[in-house]
Amino acid sequence: MKFNKFGKAVSIAAVGIVALSTLTACGGGTSRGGGSSQTASLKKGDLIGISMPTKADQRWNVDGANLVRDLEKAGFKTKLAYANNSTSQQSNDINNLVSAGAKAIVVAAVDGTAVGPAVKQAESQGDVVVSYDRLIMNTDAVNYYVTFDLERTGILEANTIINKLNLKNGGGKDTPYNIALFAGSDDDNNAPYFFKGAWNLLKPYFESGQLVDPSGLVTKDTTNADWKKISVHAWDQSQAQKQMDAFMTKLGQKPLAAVLSPYDAISLGVMKSIKNARPDMTPSIPFSATGTQNKSAWPIITGQDGMDIAITNITYGAQEQTVFKNVALLAKQTTSLFTQIADGKTPKSTDSAMNNGKKDVPTWLLKSDELVKNPTGDQKGLHYEVEVGFITEAQYKKDIAAPIIK
Ligand code: BGC
Repeated sequence: MKFNKFGKAVSIAAVGIVALSTLTACGGGTSRGGGSSQTASLKKGDLIGISMPTKADQRWNVDGANLVRDLEKAGFKTKLAYANNSTSQQSNDINNLVSAGAKAIVVAAVDGTAVGPAVKQAESQGDVVVSYDRLIMNTDAVNYYVTFDLERTGILEANTIINKLNLKNGGGKDTPYNIALFAGSDDDNNAPYFFKGAWNLLKPYFESGQLVDPSGLVTKDTTNADWKKISVHAWDQSQAQKQMDAFMTKLGQKPLAAVLSPYDAISLGVMKSIKNARPDMTPSIPFSATGTQNKSAWPIITGQDGMDIAITNITYGAQEQTVFKNVALLAKQTTSLFTQIADGKTPKSTDSAMNNGKKDVPTWLLKSDELVKNPTGDQKGLHYEVEVGFITEAQYKKDIAAPIIK
């Protein structure tokens, strides 16, 4: 067991706090709102450690910067670490943050289960633990969870496919539409929720025979629990490309109507694979749900995160949409939790708690948006990213002019 320089004193304080919490907590395992055992342990001026998974994905850079900015503005000190998508590196990062004196940690896990022992260690030394975006699994050492409505990602993606393929009005009834489906990383608790949101809507069209997966990985008998059959480990672009290569072999020279992708980098791997296997397919012939299927038409491809590259490719017609999470709101919600705790309050949520295998973790669910080229209803235009400060106007202009898939 590893102790920081305050180890003993903090451990004793933590025991006191836990004892107090048994008198004041909201009954343990309730599914609404909920308390924390650590409310007394944090004050303004304390150090908060931030552990992010990787710099390689655009969003985590923005998340990290937002958290530093907002927490410091609220009067806390911060230390930010990136784990290079390595589980052992993330455990070291968390240990180091606690050793550096962090009284609370915010963790976006590389692997929700693997990070458990490190946060347990932090919690046992009196740290408040906030699970950020991804739920930390199978430990009672998580105090709060802030994320976006997870199933909504899949719902938005599936609805785009359903609308574009005109499935509600019989699209694919005469000749079934070919579709490829992907799920997120097998070690990320978000991934099955994304898939569930999408699959609940798409499954009926597999049952009616309007959609078919030529690889055979997904059939009308697929259930939400089968998501790992199509998961892309570590959300990795080249891994997605390999999986799509296998799909394209099965597809042969047939048309392809749609690809359910849960993340923009996976979409990119998918596009590169399509380009290699079927150079005849081109975004300048968008897949159309009217008339005979054109085998050279470019499929409807979804995504998530609003990466620069996705915005570019949506403009160019290579990607249909991206689910955009305004992560500035997530940083604000996280900061609000710590501010309340430092003010001696117990944060309360009106959202249902999420169970991590060990406890019901008080959870805050924010609402994501859908970015498309020509928005209707409550969809947003691509420029929305600039409006909420995700990218600068200059960056936007630069990206918009440089399609990756030509
Ligand atoms: C996040 C997504 C992100 C994905 C890949 C998920 O846990 O919720 O927003 O696209 O990880 O980084």
